[in-house]
Amino acid sequence: MGYNKIFLYYFSGTGNSRAAANWFQEVASERQIPCKLIQLYRDKVDELPDQNIENQLIGFFFPTHGFNAAPAMLSFIWKFPQIKNTSVFIVNTRAGMKISKLFLPGLSGLAQILPAILLKFKGFRVVGMQPLDLPSNWISLHPGIKETVVQSMFEHYKVILKSFASRILEGKTKYKALISLPIDLFVVPISFGYYFFGRFFLAKMFISTSSCDACGICENQCPVGAIKMKSDRPFWKYTCESCMKCMNNCPKKAIQTAHLYSFIWWILLWILLPTMGIWIAFENELFHLINNDFLTENILTIALFTISLPIIALAYRFLHFATQWKWMDVLNKYTSLTSFKFWRRYSFGLKRFRKVNHH
Ligand SMILES: Cc1cc2nc3c(=O)[nH]c(=O)nc-3n(C[C@H](O)[C@H](O)[C@H](O)COP(=O)(O)O)c2cc1C
Ligand code: SF4
Ligand code: SF4
Repeated sequence: MGYNKIFLYYFSGTGNSRAAANWFQEVASERQIPCKLIQLYRDKVDELPDQNIENQLIGFFFPTHGFNAAPAMLSFIWKFPQIKNTSVFIVNTRAGMKISKLFLPGLSGLAQILPAILLKFKGFRVVGMQPLDLPSNWISLHPGIKETVVQSMFEHYKVILKSFASRILEGKTKYKALISLPIDLFVVPISFGYYFFGRFFLAKMFISTSSCDACGICENQCPVGAIKMKSDRPFWKYTCESCMKCMNNCPKKAIQTAHLYSFIWWILLWILLPTMGIWIAFENELFHLINNDFLTENILTIALFTISLPIIALAYRFLHFATQWKWMDVLNKYTSLTSFKFWRRYSFGLKRFRKVNHH
């Protein structure tokens, strides 16, 4: 079956998923199939597929965040219109690494299965599920990967993506993502934890240092509009998806992850709070009520995280305010791993992204 038209929707923080969509488009162009690349930006896209075109193909490209699809893309797929007899495919880019000559894969968790189930329920025919292990951009967690390594990973995975594209455009199917299904299912609890709690805590780890000159680039370019300038400094809202664009793109390298400050708050909340008398009394009361250890523990964990959210928000407001003080700025600089020179930024995907993207 030949496809008449292709729509490729992508969400990308640092350009990896954009690059993957671009490679797919190149293969479509070689076959002279009209193919549109459409960015999901601030919950909007420029164009949706035409319900009246027959034999169209729709692709979704996005990064894996916390063993799941990036939340912005998940909500886009959730709201995506139903179109009869239409084929779709999913490409999630993941945290690849390269050690010596060995290419190491990331882990998808729900990133493929959940969108595939949603699309299936909407009546689509899922014809492709391909993970792509492009360089990890999660520089709050680890130093940016060296440029030469990044380049070699791009070359390696370009071939894989193009071979996937050729297969799909020949009308065949490919479900590479299903190979890791047992491990993906194993990490599902973490996917849920990240989606409902983890991402909000990560959003409140970003700060700017005194190197910030209030240029507003981060605020203007955030793909979900999660930055607000307050007192001439960026303030990160809970809607931040930790896509890493702002941190990697700041011309002054002023954005850091407040490692020590966040760590202290997490210790206070998750280790000290459960040992306090009032918490223990609540736990005993709950256990008497439901008489089940497993349920009690889980309800308490959810309660703890829920209580933590507004407390962290308050602590973050203080941090944002205090960055005006010199001593706090110095403290932040020396206790954020991201501010050390050896930590680097991830920019390769982003540079390529900039060439083709006006946002
Ligand atoms: C907050 C965050 C969470 C991530 N979680 C995962 C993950 O669960 N599994 C994985 O393989 N990669 C994970 N990654 C890595 C990215 O998915 C990967 O680098 C992706 O290619 C980035 O794509 P982009 O440049 O299009 O944003 C994560 C990255 C970030 C910033
Ligand atoms: S991009 Fe950097 S310098 Fe510009 S406002 Fe944001 S943090 Fe400040
Ligand atoms: S605030 Fe920064 S990390 Fe968060 S979603 Fe926006 S660009 Fe990405």
